[in-house]
Amino acid sequence: MSKYWNPQVRKHWLVVARSECVSHKPLAVTIMDKPMVLVRLPGQQILALEDRCPHRQAPLSQGRMTSEGLQCPYHGWTFGEQGRCTSVPGLPADQCLPAVAARYYAVQELDGLVWVRLAASGDLAPPALIADLPAGSRKFMWQAKWQADIVNAMENFLDPLHTHLVHPGLVRRDNRRSRMQASLTKTAEGFTVDYQGQPEQSGLLYRLFESPRLSERVYFAQPGTAQIEYRYQNGSIVRITLHFTPEGASTTHVFATLHVENRWAPAWLLRATVWPFLKRVAQQDARMLALQEQNLQKFPGSHPVSTSLDLVRPYLEQVWREDKTDVELPLIKTIALDL
Ligand code: FES
Ligand SMILES: [Fe+2]
Repeated sequence: MSKYWNPQVRKHWLVVARSECVSHKPLAVTIMDKPMVLVRLPGQQILALEDRCPHRQAPLSQGRMTSEGLQCPYHGWTFGEQGRCTSVPGLPADQCLPAVAARYYAVQELDGLVWVRLAASGDLAPPALIADLPAGSRKFMWQAKWQADIVNAMENFLDPLHTHLVHPGLVRRDNRRSRMQASLTKTAEGFTVDYQGQPEQSGLLYRLFESPRLSERVYFAQPGTAQIEYRYQNGSIVRITLHFTPEGASTTHVFATLHVENRWAPAWLLRATVWPFLKRVAQQDARMLALQEQNLQKFPGSHPVSTSLDLVRPYLEQVWREDKTDVELPLIKTIALDL
């Protein structure tokens, strides 16, 4: 399996942090093997720079915020909007500042998250799937780092067939499978998968917190956003969204949000009741992904074998893998599966 990322990914927006974690104190993050520093300028807008001073390459994340921008910890060069150099300590006032800039990335904040586009040009905004979420419906956020390659991590979230074994009793029961249909449809931003035939799920989570479903739909918005949306017969809607961003070839940042509509569900109540169960599910997934990743490193060069049940993988690979970008994939694909 290729470990190389499709360069097109850099034209889209990736989540790199939660908004609440970015302050006037520099935050170092690594995105696709690139060290980056995030900091809030005095005007509150976020500055995202390569974590490297153009003078002598000291890490800017070790610096501090001044009224003129982010100051390098070594000789004090300071960088403001778009990485432009705003101050060089010791330079006489009658001399010009050097026309240099730290490498700068476009930044936007959306849904409580900081998004960065690595390429200088490309998509104008993060996915409409997120921009269109109703204001105020976000109830919960969470962040983790998984020992997993990005495609394996995203496949795990989008694949229902592991749930009987990795989350037994909690999400589904192996001895209570029933026939369903899954239909994948390509969209402008990625794809959707509609699951039909199971208004009630066999696990504990469903029995504790849910009621009969009207629909179950999965969304993928390239490059790293995946969402499961449940609509209920009582009119409420629950959306669990995970944003995935590679830190490196075998570690992936995961940023999760929970949105609830048309239902009384205060954040404190969800935190006290639903979250302990969802956290358990996330730990079970993280453990299995780490085992998978460790084994991939023991058996380098091994290729995955798939069946028709592995519906989403070719689409994820097409977005992320450098060697899979030209594959022709069906616009619509429907499979039967026992879930
Ligand atoms: S290395 Fe940054 S100012 Fe010299
Ligand atoms: Fe899972």
